[in-house]
Amino acid sequence: MSQTTESILIIDFGSQYTQLIARRIRELGVFSIIKQNNISLNSLKEINPKGIILSGGPESVHKSTKLTVPKYIFDYDVPILGICYGMQLLADHFGGKISQSSKKEFGPSSFTRKKNSKLFIGKDIPKKFNVWMSHSDKVIRLPSDFILTGSSDNSDISAFQCEKRNVYGLQFHPEVTHTSHGKKILDNFCRKVCACRKSWTTKNKIQEIISDIKNKVGNEKVLLALSGGVDSSVVAALIKRAIGENLQCMFINTGLHRKNEVRDVKENIQKSLKVNLQVINAETQFLRNLKGVTDPEKKRKIIGETFIRIFEKESKKLKKIHFLAQGTIYPDVIESSSKKSKSDVIKSHHNVGGLPKKFNFFLIEPIRKLFKDEVRKIGKELSIPNNLIGRHPFPGPGLAVRIVGEVTKERISILREVDHIFIDEIKNAGLYHKISQALAVFLPIKSVGVMGDQRKYNYVVAIRAVTTTDFMTAKISVIPYDVLNMISTRVVNEVPKVARVVYDITNKPPGTIEWE
Ligand code: XMP
Repeated sequence: MSQTTESILIIDFGSQYTQLIARRIRELGVFSIIKQNNISLNSLKEINPKGIILSGGPESVHKSTKLTVPKYIFDYDVPILGICYGMQLLADHFGGKISQSSKKEFGPSSFTRKKNSKLFIGKDIPKKFNVWMSHSDKVIRLPSDFILTGSSDNSDISAFQCEKRNVYGLQFHPEVTHTSHGKKILDNFCRKVCACRKSWTTKNKIQEIISDIKNKVGNEKVLLALSGGVDSSVVAALIKRAIGENLQCMFINTGLHRKNEVRDVKENIQKSLKVNLQVINAETQFLRNLKGVTDPEKKRKIIGETFIRIFEKESKKLKKIHFLAQGTIYPDVIESSSKKSKSDVIKSHHNVGGLPKKFNFFLIEPIRKLFKDEVRKIGKELSIPNNLIGRHPFPGPGLAVRIVGEVTKERISILREVDHIFIDEIKNAGLYHKISQALAVFLPIKSVGVMGDQRKYNYVVAIRAVTTTDFMTAKISVIPYDVLNMISTRVVNEVPKVARVVYDITNKPPGTIEWE
């Protein structure tokens, strides 16, 4: 975004929650940007942040190979907030002591404020509140000039600060919704400590993106790989606004989509967005390449690779198009860049980094700096119909990662029907927009049942519904028993190959939203 935008810089030490910090800050109307710990001084000066946050991570300051930041970060004259490992790093740098432990404190804890702090300003923040912890080491002696601002059940020093240097530390994670008042604490950091204004608005973003596309593309044509999901639809709408008829969209039917998805995409994109659309049917190729594959990561890689090969072949047939647009969003960018850092790769997402090196296109990624909810807000502002914007997310690898074990035509068709009934019933019950994501999973195991007088020995399917704002953490949705009952009755009656329906009751963390 423009150099004048006020921002908070987040240094990533590999925490699964780093993106969440960035999202929360943006929700507060302040632009945030994530960088690795080896950020150069030039980059730092270019970003010119109003404040710096050091994230958590799986590190220990006691390791000789520990990740840290260059001295110019500690010396940069803006406030610093260290969260979890970030706090321990601050303590270590400024002369405190950290105890080494292999025992992890993970989950809820109770936090008590000990002293006034700008971070805790606000009548709604009580003296004692619940926080979310995820650490092994802890600070056991404060650096000189630092004061203790809070303790928790398991760590006496859970929050500290040094007003002279404008440095703050929190052992708990304010970015996680399980921490009460976490958002207010981050708001206090942005506004009360760093004096940021609320300048990150949807209208500003749209204007910037459209003029950026116009500048880059001029009178040239752009090809957009459309998935039918929220991200690429919003990209389509933005590019259409910027260059009109010069936008050409391509949709690859992988055969791994939901029931009626291909038809719906055609209708939505052509009717609602009025853009040129070409549909490529590649179901057979995907199935062929997935034959015999059961490993989730392998499935993802194969699907990504197949997609790219087909796209490459088809796009070569189009003449005089030099620009390729992608619906890459910020989490994809961070995830692919953090592969260099020490954070665990939980799943491979194939939106980024999969393009062949010798691709004859200039790439444009208009929403590359945005999170999903920001993309949705832009979509709303651009009057994209709610049936497009309000759709539950659907992963790039499609139903393949919702089929445990080998992906076959039969399994896809069973899952499609189950998924259709499930979504249909939650819509009937008025729950679709209350649930953030609902999905069905095919399990390659069989179970005994009875229908009429007949013994049934058929597959098990799981249904899963979660409520979340960020998809990084999620709670299982509460679906009333009568609705669950209706779903299971319909599935077992209407899908002959299914004998049993189970409901997944796992939050994230520890479970991910998708099964694979
Ligand atoms: P997990 O399963 O990691 O998913 O908790 C978080 C969100 O990401 C979606 N997801 C994907 N989206 N390509 C995508 O575009 C993928 O490979 C992919 N894998 C998971 C998932 O549906 C959920 O909304």
